[in-house]
Amino acid sequence: MWLTRRFYPPRGTSNPRVGMPVVVTGARIAAVGDLHASEDHRERLVRVFAGLADVDLVLLAGDLTTHGLVEEADVLADACRAAGPPVVAVLGNHDHHNGLAQDISRVLTDAGVTVLDGTHAVFDVGAAQVGVAGTKGFVGGFPGAEIADFGERLLRDVYAETSREVAALEEGLEAVAGCETRLVLLHYAPISETIVGEPEGIWAFLGSGRLAGPIGAHRPDAVFHGHAHHGRPLGAIGTVPVHNVARPVLPGDFHLAAF
Ligand SMILES: [Fe+2]
Ligand SMILES: [Fe+2]
Repeated sequence: MWLTRRFYPPRGTSNPRVGMPVVVTGARIAAVGDLHASEDHRERLVRVFAGLADVDLVLLAGDLTTHGLVEEADVLADACRAAGPPVVAVLGNHDHHNGLAQDISRVLTDAGVTVLDGTHAVFDVGAAQVGVAGTKGFVGGFPGAEIADFGERLLRDVYAETSREVAALEEGLEAVAGCETRLVLLHYAPISETIVGEPEGIWAFLGSGRLAGPIGAHRPDAVFHGHAHHGRPLGAIGTVPVHNVARPVLPGDFHLAAF
């Protein structure tokens, strides 16, 4: 199994977050988005997840299914049952496509997956705690080309939906503030840097720069998102690394990080 490795901060070095204490929890994280599970991928997914014994936590950054069908979620649920470590997930736009998001969440929850939707979860890794604030995020664009809270009701509803996601992310980060390692899990991108490579005409549908607000304020250890299949793997919000872990962007099955 291929793993991409990025260790930050390297053991024995200073933390890049100015003024923040160095905390090395030893937590090993595997992250991937856009698995787009379906029956065609069952064997491969189970094999790949069964090979994750050496990590402490698995993060799935949405678009868990191909068409938002329960039977597709069943395939991923079986793979997650084969995984040793806990699995945390947010849903993506594909998982909402058939109006079955709640059923997909239930199937995964029944398999032991922690599905975050504007919520948070805390995991014990050794003597330390890893907190994950997770939400799908939504659209809206990035500074210079953003949807405004103006005009037709439908467009203002889109703006309001992103506002709810931003508020939920803020609450989640507040809730995990005391954890030694703090991570953000999204489907949509919070910055444009990691979607470069996608047609610029669709950037407004790939994420919202408003999601970066709570991240810049709370400065978690890392952010993981998916959705931008043709984007770039790494960007930043200030000194916070932002990883686009959409499966087509990765050279292997997972992005692996240690904290
Ligand atoms: Fe996707
Ligand atoms: Fe997506």
